[in-house]
Amino acid sequence: TVLVVDFGAQYAQLIARRIREAGVYSEIVPSSVPVEEILEREPAAIVLSGGPSSVYAEGAPQVDPALFEGGVPAFGICYGFQAMAQTLGGTVAHTGDREYGGTPLTVTTQGRLFGDLPVEQSVWMSHGDAVSAPPPGFTVTATSTGAPVAAFEDVDRRLAGVQFHPEVRHTAHGQTVLEHFLFDIAGLERSWTMSNVVDEQVAAIRAQIGDRRALCALSGGVDSAVAAALVQRAIGDRLTCVYVDHGLMRQGETEQIERDLAEVTGADLRVVDASGQFLSALAGVSDPEEKRKIIGREFIRVFEQAATDVVADAQAHGETVDFLVQGTLYPDVVESGGGTGTANIKSHHNVGGLPEDLQFTLVEPLRTLFKDEVREVGRQLGLPDRLVQRQPFPGPGLGIRIVGEVTRDRLDVLRRADAIAREELSAAKLDSEIWQCPVVLLADVRSVGVQGDGRTYGHPVVLRPVSSEDAMTADWTRLPYDVLARISTRITNEVSEVNRVVLDVTSKPPGTIEWE
Ligand code: XMP
Repeated sequence: TVLVVDFGAQYAQLIARRIREAGVYSEIVPSSVPVEEILEREPAAIVLSGGPSSVYAEGAPQVDPALFEGGVPAFGICYGFQAMAQTLGGTVAHTGDREYGGTPLTVTTQGRLFGDLPVEQSVWMSHGDAVSAPPPGFTVTATSTGAPVAAFEDVDRRLAGVQFHPEVRHTAHGQTVLEHFLFDIAGLERSWTMSNVVDEQVAAIRAQIGDRRALCALSGGVDSAVAAALVQRAIGDRLTCVYVDHGLMRQGETEQIERDLAEVTGADLRVVDASGQFLSALAGVSDPEEKRKIIGREFIRVFEQAATDVVADAQAHGETVDFLVQGTLYPDVVESGGGTGTANIKSHHNVGGLPEDLQFTLVEPLRTLFKDEVREVGRQLGLPDRLVQRQPFPGPGLGIRIVGEVTRDRLDVLRRADAIAREELSAAKLDSEIWQCPVVLLADVRSVGVQGDGRTYGHPVVLRPVSSEDAMTADWTRLPYDVLARISTRITNEVSEVNRVVLDVTSKPPGTIEWE
């Protein structure tokens, strides 16, 4: 395991992902963890992440020199680079100048880190002060205008560092530099593959569950499907999956999910049709937050009942259901302050609505994985691409894509319009280019139109195609006009209640991706 010591920058997860992409398993530890604890885990290497802009910044975390005394290979990035320099006897100049963004870098000594990479390259910088003299024993290998010492290495001690961010895509050869550290300096081997993960997880799940039974709530999304498929592979039909159909899914989606899961995993799947219950609870409600609360509450109620039924059925056969499968991912674990072996507050919170007498132990087979790894595990397990590559879809479903009250008729209108948009986007092979494209029905708005010889008085639908890396920020996707034209023509021709198609050209921020 390569441990990424997180000095509080948002880059730590990205670094861990890039290390895994190189084929080496990596986890994140907060910089507050004492060095003894870090070394006790016998890391294959340690990477010090970025953090505050300078070691002189107020409250900048210090690095305990003991970290470098155990002979573990170490790589410092940005702040981690400065901290490493200072701890080992180099000098960090308190310049107060900032270097930010794409920056030209000159390689002065090829060494191991840069190998035969070009002498001039563009790197991503984000720092205040800079290392002015390397620690004894280190060779300076690169320089930039704002960072006289932009990279250094001590091959004998297997230590190296860079002032720039090799983990971001803006750094042209970043991944190669990182791999040079891992393989040519630290001497590690590639061993992290998703087929190993499947084998290890299946074994771990068998060990945890033994011959008892487990329950899993499927949402239709990637995470719960992959988690279920893994557990199913481990314990077969002792896993029962529950899918709550809230009646707010897109056209054909529930049936597709049923087919995909039944066919591929053969899991025991119970679909609970609760659409009537959800619609009654939503009657007369148009406030977005209110809708979300109602849908969340009803979901817990329905799932609780289904879980009680599953437990009762098992008991009738003299068996118990002790485990609940959750698709918790590594970023959730990191963000809720957890790590390997620590309790994960967030996922417990997710099942917080279950009553006292339904006590389950959590099974979280994805809690060490990033999203792209989960997709790969899904592929390894034979899940179809349409499921593994599924774009994000909100839990409350179409309920938050109807601006106004949610009714069966309005859902039907939105479903038909949405199906056309999805069909045309797929036909134009745009699925992988867009992050998602919500179609929103403005149910309380009507406008005048003309069709054939007659006046129409219908509703607008909004197309909201967005491009994004992580949904935190997004831009509207510049879809080709001919695709937009086809979607518009087809929706207004085929969905008689809709007489206008409009395009949302707002980025996030200020707009959110969903309208509610
Ligand atoms: P916003 O609208 O906040 O959406 O920009 C960001 C991303 O989150 C999805 N989303 C949700 N997903 N439950 C979910 O599981 C929700 O309540 C929910 N609300 C928004 C949205 O589709 C987008 O990908």
